[in-house]
Amino acid sequence: MSFIIAIDGPAASGKGTIARALARHFGFHHLDTGLLYRATGVKGGDPVAAARNLTAEDLTRPQLRSAEAGQAASRVAAIPQVREALVDFQRRFAAREPGAVLDGRDIGTVICPDAQVKLYVVASDRVRADRRAAELGADPAAMLDQLRERDRRDSERASAPLRPADDAVVIDTSDLQIDEAVAAAIAAVDRVRPAR
Ligand code: CDP
Ligand code: CDP
Repeated sequence: MSFIIAIDGPAASGKGTIARALARHFGFHHLDTGLLYRATGVKGGDPVAAARNLTAEDLTRPQLRSAEAGQAASRVAAIPQVREALVDFQRRFAAREPGAVLDGRDIGTVICPDAQVKLYVVASDRVRADRRAAELGADPAAMLDQLRERDRRDSERASAPLRPADDAVVIDTSDLQIDEAVAAAIAAVDRVRPAR
């Protein structure tokens, strides 16, 4: 059976950075599930059809990292049929040997409720806005408004809202350097993964 690490949390909390580092450390596959929603949002047209017909090319477009793509993603992500259209791909990815790390909003709660390790990565609103603004060369105050709006939409939607799984380990990266956050995540995995 493959080993699954589910990572969820609000925008720019550091989930993707931790997910990539864990995948490298353990030799696992990594899927940034936010890209599926971003690609659906920027594709235009009927979002349900867009989600059903995503191609590898759709997932590599440079504009997917933009704040606009993030907002478009959170709008289409509230549509239950869009979410349904993306479930099988994510679950098949999670089953890849020898293991997989998936990061998003509903990995530990909906996509992989039986994941061996669940992490919920948080950081203060301000820290997250400053980090994402630095990354995109954007204004921190405007970024703070945007992230708050997106987090609210993600948390309040009826279908797979953002929330920690009951058995998730919470990692607050507000005062952590990247290597410290990664070390905390590795320690959480090592606690449940039998040494091999
Ligand atoms: O995937 P998610 O949107 O949760 O966040 P990310 O893209 O991994 O991280 C957002 C930004 O915060 C990136 O520029 C990271 O380098 C930075 N960062 C971090 O992830 N963790 C820290 N402890 C400090 C900074
Ligand atoms: O990197 P960041 O945390 O800013 O965003 P992302 O992970 O790329 O996700 C973009 C948007 O997609 C989120 O605001 C959610 O609305 C949606 N999303 C989701 O609903 N479920 C997931 N598993 C991943 C992303």
